[in-house]
Amino acid sequence: MTDVETTQEKTTVVDRILTEYPQGKRDALIPILQEVQAQQGYLSREAIVKIGKHLGLAASKIYGVATFYNQFRFQPLGKFHIQVCRGTACHVKNSTAVLDTLRRELKIEPGETTRDGLFSLEVVACVGACGLAPVICVNGEFYASMTPAKTRRLIEEIRERAEEHGN
Ligand code: FES
Repeated sequence: MTDVETTQEKTTVVDRILTEYPQGKRDALIPILQEVQAQQGYLSREAIVKIGKHLGLAASKIYGVATFYNQFRFQPLGKFHIQVCRGTACHVKNSTAVLDTLRRELKIEPGETTRDGLFSLEVVACVGACGLAPVICVNGEFYASMTPAKTRRLIEEIRERAEEHGN
């Protein structure tokens, strides 16, 4: 798919969502953002501009609101989306060290995607596997009892696998 096709597809998705909300109905902002993110995986610049036009809000205002809620992201997900659990059981077992390792290794913060598009990082609430704490999820697959060393190995393995497959 070309960039042009991608943009057109995104535009159509946002347009369709916006038709469900009356123009200028500003209290619809959060539900619209949630729906766009659910459909596209993130809030693109084009989507923000379109939403702003529809609701009569400046794009800067929408960014301001969206960044306040840390559920929103502004970059597409990476090929490998890593979620770090920040629930209590994981926190007690030092999930912070795992998260710090990922930030250092990938050179991104939660909510961001690496430049090569390989990894994206997110911090999430309890994923319901407290017995395996601390837990991380990669594309929905659970990795249990993580340590900084295990985390580094996992990233290395994923990079190697991606390279083998020509990514
Ligand atoms: S606290 Fe991490 S899985 Fe429940």
